[in-house]
Amino acid sequence: MPKGCRHLLRSWLAATSILFGAFSPALAADSAEPSAAALIEALVTRVPPIGGPFNLIDHTGRRRTDVDFHGKLVVIYFGYTHCPDVCPTELQTISLALDALGTAADPVQPLFITVDPERDTPSVLADYISSFHARLVALTGPAPQIRRVALAYKVFFAKSAVVGPDGYAIDHTSFIYLVGKDGRYIDFLPPGLTPERIIEALRLHLDRQSGP
Ligand code: NI
Repeated sequence: MPKGCRHLLRSWLAATSILFGAFSPALAADSAEPSAAALIEALVTRVPPIGGPFNLIDHTGRRRTDVDFHGKLVVIYFGYTHCPDVCPTELQTISLALDALGTAADPVQPLFITVDPERDTPSVLADYISSFHARLVALTGPAPQIRRVALAYKVFFAKSAVVGPDGYAIDHTSFIYLVGKDGRYIDFLPPGLTPERIIEALRLHLDRQSGP
């Protein structure tokens, strides 16, 4: 691996470990589940397959699958509505980027997939996403299906042992995923980007994906 890549890998790992302020070693030690480090490494080093089919319920209660979004450049973010800081920040950044793109963002479909299906019912999601981009679609579903799609995208999530005034927290990785019009995974973006950087990435892939 070239030196530059290793450095980037370290930054991503550092960026992610910052997100694990309330990380619980007891939960991480569960050997039945892949660790956060293993999932991040698999994502960053592009161990296939990444992404794939899903079958979930949207914020209006309608069943949605990945096929519904074929033909769009899909931007996926995994998180949960009780997240105090990172999730709203990332969703706000994605929303700002899409607003700034104007009609150029018409072929882009933003998706928010909850990793907290226990609390994030369709109506909770509908209320939550009204603060973000008008075309944002939020998805929930039975816990096993949420786990399957999260693992497909190499998303780590686990209930934290720390319980705050707002209930339990969930430790989770915060990458943004880009999926092409053909439904195939394209790339991920690290957390903490500015709207400008997201616009750049979207423009690049919109150009590449234009045409029949
Ligand atoms: Ni979050």
